[in-house]
Amino acid sequence: MKGTPKEKSTVVFVIANHKGGAAKTTTAINLADNIAQEGHSVCLLDLDPQANGSRHIGLSHPSEIKYTAADLLSIPELPLAVFIHDETRVEGVSLIYGSIALENSDDLLRAEPRPNEVLKERIAPLMGKADFIIIDCPPSLKLLTTNALAAGTHLIVPVESGDAYGLHGHEDLLSRVKKMKQINPTLLNLGVLLNRHDQRQVVCKNMEENAANLYGAVIPIKIGTTTKVKQASSLQCTLRQLDSGNTVSQQFRNLAQWLIAETKEFREEV
Ligand SMILES: Nc1ncnc2c1ncn2[C@@H]1O[C@H](COP(=O)(O)OP(=O)(O)O)[C@@H](O)[C@H]1O
Ligand SMILES: [Mg+2]
Repeated sequence: MKGTPKEKSTVVFVIANHKGGAAKTTTAINLADNIAQEGHSVCLLDLDPQANGSRHIGLSHPSEIKYTAADLLSIPELPLAVFIHDETRVEGVSLIYGSIALENSDDLLRAEPRPNEVLKERIAPLMGKADFIIIDCPPSLKLLTTNALAAGTHLIVPVESGDAYGLHGHEDLLSRVKKMKQINPTLLNLGVLLNRHDQRQVVCKNMEENAANLYGAVIPIKIGTTTKVKQASSLQCTLRQLDSGNTVSQQFRNLAQWLIAETKEFREEV
């Protein structure tokens, strides 16, 4: 790969929120699927020790995988290719597996001379090769998430719309983003993605307003609620694979199309 001319700019979506249950993994998987359906190459990078995303779309269990994201961060001698699994349950989507070993990554990263910049260096060979990389972050603001923020090009923050405390602690996330912008000044904050949104509910309307005030932006495509999300994860398929006509399934397709259009100029910059 080294020495070959860069043909395009790779979009690196960072899907982050320090809260668990905010739909980071659901968003990462269904976005990956729908972006791939539009004909783009996508690599899902699972940075969560729970590895739910890897379990969902991987052909193997994360515990059976020799080199996972934890090794990507700790063994710089290994070429990036050994981490990328081209075959997954989702056509057009490759996977860098997460694993429980990521639990130790924070401690290991802390010992690095530039603890926030390890991931950026490690995925550099993919830049200009893949169309999209989607990073599924763990529910924390520690070094795994700050590494993703330092390596990313665009930030998406899924929030549970009906949760009155859904924006609790987001000043901390925003202050991490601000700090990482010193390292990664071009990181673009696309803002909050409202998940389980119901426009008829006052709590959801308030959330939209508060999210816009706090983040400066709310992604115009909102995601509703469906029991099919859980069904899809237990069947290890995406919402589209399960039921492409489902409203939430179509909302994820709209979101993918919106993001593809939104990043077009960026992708064509070389
Ligand atoms: N739009 C939705 N409708 C119904 N259930 C959802 C929706 N989005 C997420 N969920 C469910 O909420 C839970 C948390 O979602 P998940 O994507 O795992 O969050 P995170 O990765 O932020 O921890 C999962 O059980 C998932 O199935
Ligand atoms: Mg998750």
